[in-house]
Amino acid sequence: MTDTRERDRSDVAPAVAELETIVSLAKRRGFVFPSSEIYGGINAVWDYGPLGVELKNNVKRAWWRAMVQERDDIVGLDAGILMHPQVWVTSGHVGSFSDPLVECATCHRRYRLDELPGAEGLSATDLRDESVVERLGLVCPNDGGQLSAPRRFNLMFTSHMGPVEDDGSLVYFRPETAQGSYVNFKNVQGSSRKKIPFGIAQIGKSFRNEISPGNFVFRMREFEQMEMQYFVRPGDAATAAFDEWLPERRAWYSRYGVDPSRLRLREHAPDELAHYAKKAIDVEYRFPFGWKELEGIHNRGDFDLGSHARASGENLEYFDPASEEHFIPWVVETAAGADRAAFTFLIDAWREEEVRGEKRVVLGLHPELAPYKVAVLPLLKKRPEIVAMARALRADLARDVMAVYDDTAAIGKLYRRQDEIGTPWCVTVDVESLEDGAVTVRERDTMTQARVPLEGVGRLILDRLAASRG
Ligand code: GAP
Repeated sequence: MTDTRERDRSDVAPAVAELETIVSLAKRRGFVFPSSEIYGGINAVWDYGPLGVELKNNVKRAWWRAMVQERDDIVGLDAGILMHPQVWVTSGHVGSFSDPLVECATCHRRYRLDELPGAEGLSATDLRDESVVERLGLVCPNDGGQLSAPRRFNLMFTSHMGPVEDDGSLVYFRPETAQGSYVNFKNVQGSSRKKIPFGIAQIGKSFRNEISPGNFVFRMREFEQMEMQYFVRPGDAATAAFDEWLPERRAWYSRYGVDPSRLRLREHAPDELAHYAKKAIDVEYRFPFGWKELEGIHNRGDFDLGSHARASGENLEYFDPASEEHFIPWVVETAAGADRAAFTFLIDAWREEEVRGEKRVVLGLHPELAPYKVAVLPLLKKRPEIVAMARALRADLARDVMAVYDDTAAIGKLYRRQDEIGTPWCVTVDVESLEDGAVTVRERDTMTQARVPLEGVGRLILDRLAASRG
């Protein structure tokens, strides 16, 4: 494998901000709230506030742009969260989608084995070893109590479909969107007439009953995935596609502003591979709590289409008219998390700097990701003509972009507030504007200001947005 495994520790880029700083900003400014907070919250579920929903939608849009809109070999799909239960038996999730769980004999707290102090870095083989707790002398981190031998805990949430709650009505909440693309392979290929290699992209909710969720929105029980399944000829073509997708997906994060020194690739050891994967490499990000997976690139071979063909009796072969061959395509998957990506962009964009002796907090978000593209601010809210002009300008800009009006503080404070939520441009309407029909456009990162005729503001913002896309 390439990359940073061998790197000197001093080479590791430090995380940008403390986790608490980001969590506090996210709550205070309306990015993310704990779910059901007035009832004390529910573990590992988070709600996106007014700014968070904009940021996450923009992340999903940016992914869709790169994966579907800008390519002619990938099409979209939006499959159901609930699927035929046999899908999850065939996919291997009923049998193998589990984590090792240990329980304390005295306080009865439960832990994921590999997250216990002293068990970090255990190999996948060790994690399956029933004697590992005894062998390593692991104890409960809460009260030092004796821990049970690990048992496998299946991560899928279940429910029942229809009015009868018996085994025959059991359904699973999907733990990945990928299976929707496999079971629709024939439908999508037939209707879109795509020829191999081609991909199916999906964005949607997935659910996992994680044993130890945490680190804010990093690991949740309800989350969103952005996954793409790329169908290719078996063998070498899959290896080549895998090698092409890897830099492509890493570059997507940098394209939207993530510092490349805080991204690295990490290959899964053979005993660490998921049940479906022949090869897997993660794009990792240097979170405040260490290097962690941001996205997985997987060579899934013919595991999925092959298994579904056998179990359903459907012929899921592809006919290649050029070579006149029938074969089960192999799949190269790029599997990202929308929440994890939004979280990453948020952390990586955060910075604190000193401007003329004062602290300024800035979210240097890529303009495409910023919740608001522009804020319109009146210099004097007591002058009704200025307020009217500013409000009219906001309404005009809002036809094309998310634009916000704010007059609840003095101009310096209004600028700081917009800096802190990442708004790339502020437009100020002042007394002179009433006479010369021009306004001041201020740029977030450089804080430079330019006088622009009122009728040119919309064009200027749209041009700068287009330029930021590269
Ligand atoms: N279809 C393959 C698959 O699901 P994965 O590595 O288990 O692969 C893909 O998940 C991505 O989904 C992860 O890289 C992560 O970004 C996101 N993800 C997975 N579990 C998550 C969780 N509990 N909370 C938030 N995001 C999660």
